[in-house]
Amino acid sequence: MDKIVRKKNVWIVGASSGIGEALAKEMDRPEYRLILSARRAKELEKVASGLKTEAVCLPMDVLQFEGHAQLVEEIGSKWGDVDILIYVAGKGQRTAFMETGAKDFQLLMDINFNAFVSVVRQVVPGMISRKSGAVVAVNSIQGKIAIPSRTAYVASKHALLGFMNSLRLELHACGIHVLSVLPAYVRTEFSLRALKKAEEVCQGIDPNHLKGVTPQTVAKKTFRALRKGSLEIHPGRFSQVAGVYLHKILPYKIFYWILRKKFR
Ligand SMILES: NC(=O)c1ccc[n+]([C@@H]2O[C@H](COP(=O)([O-])OP(=O)(O)OC[C@H]3O[C@@H](n4cnc5c(N)ncnc54)[C@H](OP(=O)(O)O)[C@@H]3O)[C@@H](O)[C@H]2O)c1
Repeated sequence: MDKIVRKKNVWIVGASSGIGEALAKEMDRPEYRLILSARRAKELEKVASGLKTEAVCLPMDVLQFEGHAQLVEEIGSKWGDVDILIYVAGKGQRTAFMETGAKDFQLLMDINFNAFVSVVRQVVPGMISRKSGAVVAVNSIQGKIAIPSRTAYVASKHALLGFMNSLRLELHACGIHVLSVLPAYVRTEFSLRALKKAEEVCQGIDPNHLKGVTPQTVAKKTFRALRKGSLEIHPGRFSQVAGVYLHKILPYKIFYWILRKKFR
Protein backbone atom coordinates (compact mmCIF):
# COMPACT_ATOMS: atom_id res chain seq x y z
CA MET A 1 0.00 0.00 0.00
CA ASP A 2 1.27 3.51 -0.81
CA LYS A 3 2.46 5.42 2.24
CA ILE A 4 0.45 8.61 2.75
CA VAL A 5 2.89 11.44 3.34
CA ARG A 6 1.53 14.41 5.31
CA LYS A 7 2.00 17.78 3.66
CA LYS A 8 4.43 19.97 5.57
CA ASN A 9 2.89 23.14 6.95
CA VAL A 10 4.87 26.22 5.94
CA TRP A 11 3.78 29.40 7.73
CA ILE A 12 4.97 32.55 5.96
CA VAL A 13 4.47 35.66 8.09
CA GLY A 14 4.67 38.68 5.78
CA ALA A 15 3.43 36.95 2.63
CA SER A 16 1.32 39.77 1.14
CA SER A 17 4.07 41.35 -1.00
CA GLY A 18 7.76 41.46 -1.88
CA ILE A 19 10.02 38.69 -0.61
CA GLY A 20 7.23 36.91 1.31
CA GLU A 21 5.04 36.74 -1.80
CA ALA A 22 8.00 35.43 -3.84
CA LEU A 23 8.67 32.80 -1.17
CA ALA A 24 5.06 31.64 -1.33
CA LYS A 25 5.44 31.22 -5.11
CA GLU A 26 8.80 29.47 -4.73
CA MET A 27 7.37 27.04 -2.17
CA ASP A 28 4.29 26.35 -4.27
CA ARG A 29 5.03 22.62 -4.31
CA PRO A 30 2.77 19.62 -3.69
CA GLU A 31 4.63 18.58 -0.53
CA TYR A 32 3.71 21.83 1.23
CA ARG A 33 0.58 23.44 2.62
CA LEU A 34 1.17 27.19 2.74
CA ILE A 35 -0.28 29.30 5.51
CA LEU A 36 -0.01 32.94 4.49
CA SER A 37 -0.12 35.77 7.01
CA ALA A 38 0.14 39.57 6.95
CA ARG A 39 -2.31 42.43 7.58
CA ARG A 40 -3.60 42.99 4.01
CA ALA A 41 -6.09 40.17 3.61
CA LYS A 42 -6.93 41.05 -0.01
CA GLU A 43 -3.29 40.90 -1.05
CA LEU A 44 -2.92 37.55 0.70
CA GLU A 45 -5.96 36.20 -1.17
CA LYS A 46 -4.42 37.37 -4.44
CA VAL A 47 -1.16 35.55 -3.65
CA ALA A 48 -3.01 32.39 -2.56
CA SER A 49 -5.27 32.34 -5.62
CA GLY A 50 -2.23 32.19 -7.93
CA LEU A 51 -0.80 29.08 -6.25
CA LYS A 52 -1.31 25.46 -7.26
CA THR A 53 -0.70 23.84 -3.88
CA GLU A 54 -3.07 24.14 -0.94
CA ALA A 55 -2.73 27.65 0.48
CA VAL A 56 -4.72 29.22 3.27
CA CYS A 57 -4.79 32.83 4.38
CA LEU A 58 -4.54 33.72 8.02
CA PRO A 59 -4.49 37.52 8.27
CA MET A 60 -2.63 38.86 11.27
CA ASP A 61 -0.99 41.98 12.60
CA VAL A 62 2.22 40.79 14.24
CA LEU A 63 1.90 43.68 16.69
CA GLN A 64 -1.10 41.94 18.29
CA PHE A 65 1.17 39.90 20.53
CA GLU A 66 -1.71 38.61 22.63
CA GLY A 67 -3.17 36.88 19.57
CA HIS A 68 -0.08 34.83 18.66
CA ALA A 69 -0.87 31.82 20.87
CA GLN A 70 -4.43 31.66 19.56
CA LEU A 71 -3.28 31.82 15.93
CA VAL A 72 -0.87 28.95 16.45
CA GLU A 73 -3.64 26.97 18.15
CA GLU A 74 -5.91 27.68 15.18
CA ILE A 75 -3.25 26.45 12.76
CA GLY A 76 -2.74 23.35 14.91
CA SER A 77 -6.43 22.48 15.10
CA LYS A 78 -7.17 23.10 11.41
CA TRP A 79 -4.03 21.93 9.64
CA GLY A 80 -1.61 20.48 12.22
CA ASP A 81 1.70 21.70 13.60
CA VAL A 82 3.86 24.25 11.83
CA ASP A 83 6.83 22.47 10.22
CA ILE A 84 8.54 25.49 8.72
CA LEU A 85 8.16 29.02 10.05
CA ILE A 86 9.36 31.78 7.73
CA TYR A 87 9.23 35.27 9.23
CA VAL A 88 9.50 37.98 6.59
CA ALA A 89 7.45 40.79 8.14
CA GLY A 90 9.48 43.92 8.61
CA LYS A 91 9.55 47.69 8.53
CA GLY A 92 12.38 49.90 7.32
CA GLN A 93 13.67 53.28 8.44
CA ARG A 94 14.89 56.43 6.72
CA THR A 95 15.20 58.80 9.70
CA ALA A 96 18.17 60.16 11.64
CA PHE A 97 18.39 59.12 15.28
CA MET A 98 17.17 62.50 16.60
CA GLU A 99 14.12 62.34 14.32
CA THR A 100 13.28 58.85 15.55
CA GLY A 101 11.12 58.98 18.65
CA ALA A 102 10.92 56.32 21.34
CA LYS A 103 7.60 55.11 19.89
CA ASP A 104 9.14 54.72 16.43
CA PHE A 105 12.02 52.79 17.93
CA GLN A 106 9.61 50.53 19.78
CA LEU A 107 7.56 49.96 16.61
CA LEU A 108 10.56 48.80 14.59
CA MET A 109 11.88 46.63 17.42
CA ASP A 110 8.42 45.10 17.79
CA ILE A 111 7.79 44.28 14.12
CA ASN A 112 11.33 43.26 13.22
CA PHE A 113 12.32 41.45 16.41
CA ASN A 114 9.95 41.13 19.39
CA ALA A 115 6.99 39.81 17.40
CA PHE A 116 9.22 37.20 15.78
CA VAL A 117 10.47 36.04 19.19
CA SER A 118 6.86 35.80 20.37
CA VAL A 119 5.81 33.73 17.33
CA VAL A 120 8.85 31.45 17.71
CA ARG A 121 7.92 30.90 21.36
CA GLN A 122 4.54 29.52 20.23
CA VAL A 123 5.80 27.39 17.36
CA VAL A 124 9.03 25.86 18.64
CA PRO A 125 7.62 23.60 21.40
CA GLY A 126 5.83 21.50 18.76
CA MET A 127 9.05 21.26 16.72
CA ILE A 128 11.01 20.19 19.80
CA SER A 129 8.52 17.45 20.60
CA ARG A 130 8.62 16.18 16.99
CA LYS A 131 12.41 16.63 16.85
CA SER A 132 12.13 18.34 13.47
CA GLY A 133 11.29 21.67 11.92
CA ALA A 134 12.80 24.83 10.55
CA VAL A 135 12.80 28.45 11.66
CA VAL A 136 13.73 30.98 8.99
CA ALA A 137 14.11 34.72 9.57
CA VAL A 138 14.45 37.17 6.71
CA ASN A 139 16.94 39.56 8.23
CA SER A 140 19.07 42.05 6.25
CA ILE A 141 22.70 42.74 5.46
CA GLN A 142 22.11 45.53 7.98
CA GLY A 143 21.82 42.81 10.61
CA LYS A 144 25.63 42.75 10.28
CA ILE A 145 26.60 46.15 8.93
CA ALA A 146 25.33 49.42 10.34
CA ILE A 147 24.63 52.38 8.09
CA PRO A 148 23.35 55.86 9.04
CA SER A 149 19.65 56.80 9.38
CA ARG A 150 18.84 53.21 10.33
CA THR A 151 19.52 53.19 14.10
CA ALA A 152 16.29 51.38 15.01
CA TYR A 153 16.29 49.13 11.93
CA VAL A 154 19.93 48.13 12.39
CA ALA A 155 19.40 47.52 16.12
CA SER A 156 16.36 45.31 15.45
CA LYS A 157 18.14 43.32 12.74
CA HIS A 158 21.34 42.90 14.80
CA ALA A 159 19.15 41.64 17.66
CA LEU A 160 17.45 39.24 15.25
CA LEU A 161 20.78 37.83 14.07
CA GLY A 162 22.08 37.35 17.61
CA PHE A 163 18.83 35.69 18.66
CA MET A 164 18.97 33.28 15.70
CA ASN A 165 22.63 32.39 16.35
CA SER A 166 21.89 31.54 19.96
CA LEU A 167 18.64 29.71 19.15
CA ARG A 168 20.42 27.59 16.52
CA LEU A 169 22.91 26.32 19.07
CA GLU A 170 20.11 25.48 21.52
CA LEU A 171 17.91 23.73 18.99
CA HIS A 172 20.60 21.85 17.09
CA ALA A 173 20.24 18.76 19.25
CA CYS A 174 16.46 18.79 18.63
CA GLY A 175 16.93 18.49 14.87
CA ILE A 176 15.61 21.99 14.18
CA HIS A 177 17.13 23.96 11.33
CA VAL A 178 17.62 27.68 12.05
CA LEU A 179 18.34 29.79 8.96
CA SER A 180 19.10 33.50 8.70
CA VAL A 181 18.60 35.18 5.34
CA LEU A 182 20.45 38.50 5.05
CA PRO A 183 19.61 40.11 1.72
CA ALA A 184 21.22 43.27 0.38
CA TYR A 185 18.92 45.61 -1.56
CA VAL A 186 15.93 43.87 -3.12
CA ARG A 187 13.57 45.29 -5.77
CA THR A 188 10.44 45.64 -3.62
CA GLU A 189 8.37 48.53 -2.30
CA PHE A 190 9.94 48.14 1.15
CA SER A 191 11.41 51.67 1.15
CA LEU A 192 7.97 53.20 0.41
CA ARG A 193 6.64 51.76 3.67
CA ALA A 194 9.70 52.67 5.75
CA LEU A 195 9.54 55.03 8.66
CA LYS A 196 10.41 58.47 7.26
CA LYS A 197 9.91 62.19 7.64
CA ALA A 198 6.51 63.49 6.48
CA GLU A 199 8.03 65.50 3.61
CA GLU A 200 9.67 62.36 2.19
CA VAL A 201 6.57 60.17 2.25
CA CYS A 202 5.64 60.85 -1.38
CA GLN A 203 9.09 60.19 -2.78
CA GLY A 204 9.35 57.06 -4.92
CA ILE A 205 11.23 53.83 -4.30
CA ASP A 206 14.80 54.28 -3.04
CA PRO A 207 17.01 53.92 -6.18
CA ASN A 208 19.29 51.50 -4.28
CA HIS A 209 16.41 49.02 -4.19
CA LEU A 210 15.83 49.42 -7.93
CA LYS A 211 19.46 48.35 -8.46
CA GLY A 212 19.02 45.33 -6.19
CA VAL A 213 18.17 41.70 -6.90
CA THR A 214 14.59 40.56 -7.45
CA PRO A 215 12.54 39.07 -4.61
CA GLN A 216 12.39 35.88 -6.71
CA THR A 217 16.19 35.58 -6.47
CA VAL A 218 16.01 35.88 -2.67
CA ALA A 219 13.20 33.31 -2.56
CA LYS A 220 15.09 30.82 -4.75
CA LYS A 221 18.25 31.16 -2.66
CA THR A 222 16.28 30.82 0.57
CA PHE A 223 14.57 27.66 -0.63
CA ARG A 224 17.90 26.19 -1.72
CA ALA A 225 19.41 27.07 1.68
CA LEU A 226 16.49 25.39 3.44
CA ARG A 227 17.04 22.22 1.41
CA LYS A 228 20.83 22.27 2.00
CA GLY A 229 20.60 23.05 5.71
CA SER A 230 22.62 26.29 5.36
CA LEU A 231 22.92 28.45 8.45
CA GLU A 232 23.15 31.91 6.90
CA ILE A 233 22.95 33.33 3.38
CA HIS A 234 23.50 36.79 1.88
CA PRO A 235 21.53 37.13 -1.34
CA GLY A 236 22.38 40.26 -3.28
CA ARG A 237 24.54 41.93 -5.89
CA PHE A 238 28.21 41.29 -5.18
CA SER A 239 28.93 45.03 -4.82
CA GLN A 240 26.24 45.22 -2.12
CA VAL A 241 27.15 42.09 -0.14
CA ALA A 242 30.93 42.55 -0.41
CA GLY A 243 30.75 44.53 2.85
CA VAL A 244 29.93 41.33 4.75
CA TYR A 245 33.24 39.79 3.70
CA LEU A 246 35.25 43.00 4.17
CA HIS A 247 33.69 43.40 7.60
CA LYS A 248 34.95 39.93 8.48
CA ILE A 249 38.52 40.37 7.35
CA LEU A 250 39.32 44.06 7.90
CA PRO A 251 40.14 45.60 11.28
CA TYR A 252 37.06 47.59 12.34
CA LYS A 253 38.94 50.90 12.21
CA ILE A 254 39.63 50.43 8.48
CA PHE A 255 36.12 49.16 7.75
CA TYR A 256 34.69 52.14 9.63
CA TRP A 257 36.88 54.51 7.55
CA ILE A 258 35.47 52.96 4.34
CA LEU A 259 31.90 53.39 5.61
CA ARG A 260 32.58 57.02 6.57
CA LYS A 261 33.84 57.76 3.06
CA LYS A 262 30.79 56.07 1.53
CA PHE A 263 28.24 57.88 3.70
CA ARG A 264 29.80 61.31 4.09
N1 LIG B 1 13.65 45.11 0.15
C1 LIG B 1 14.89 45.09 0.58
O1 LIG B 1 15.79 45.71 -0.03
C2 LIG B 1 15.27 44.29 1.79
C3 LIG B 1 16.64 44.11 2.04
C4 LIG B 1 17.02 43.38 3.15
C5 LIG B 1 16.06 42.84 3.98
N2 LIG B 1 14.74 43.02 3.72
C6 LIG B 1 13.78 42.44 4.64
O2 LIG B 1 12.83 41.69 3.91
C7 LIG B 1 11.60 41.65 4.62
C8 LIG B 1 10.45 41.84 3.64
O3 LIG B 1 10.56 43.08 3.00
P1 LIG B 1 10.14 43.31 1.48
O4 LIG B 1 11.28 43.93 0.81
O5 LIG B 1 9.53 42.09 0.91
O6 LIG B 1 9.06 44.48 1.65
P2 LIG B 1 7.46 44.47 1.74
O7 LIG B 1 6.90 44.12 0.41
O8 LIG B 1 7.10 45.79 2.32
O9 LIG B 1 7.12 43.30 2.74
C9 LIG B 1 6.91 43.49 4.11
C10 LIG B 1 5.96 42.42 4.58
O10 LIG B 1 5.82 42.56 5.99
C11 LIG B 1 4.45 42.56 6.30
N3 LIG B 1 4.20 43.33 7.52
C12 LIG B 1 4.63 44.57 7.81
N4 LIG B 1 4.13 44.96 8.99
C13 LIG B 1 3.37 43.93 9.45
C14 LIG B 1 2.58 43.72 10.59
N5 LIG B 1 2.47 44.67 11.55
N6 LIG B 1 1.93 42.56 10.74
C15 LIG B 1 2.02 41.61 9.78
N7 LIG B 1 2.75 41.73 8.67
C16 LIG B 1 3.42 42.89 8.51
C17 LIG B 1 3.80 43.24 5.08
O11 LIG B 1 2.42 42.87 5.01
P3 LIG B 1 1.18 43.84 5.36
O12 LIG B 1 1.57 45.23 5.02
O13 LIG B 1 0.09 43.28 4.49
O14 LIG B 1 0.92 43.62 6.80
C18 LIG B 1 4.58 42.57 3.95
O15 LIG B 1 4.03 41.33 3.64
C19 LIG B 1 11.71 42.69 5.74
O16 LIG B 1 11.90 42.03 6.96
C20 LIG B 1 12.96 43.49 5.38
O17 LIG B 1 13.64 43.94 6.54
C21 LIG B 1 14.32 43.73 2.63
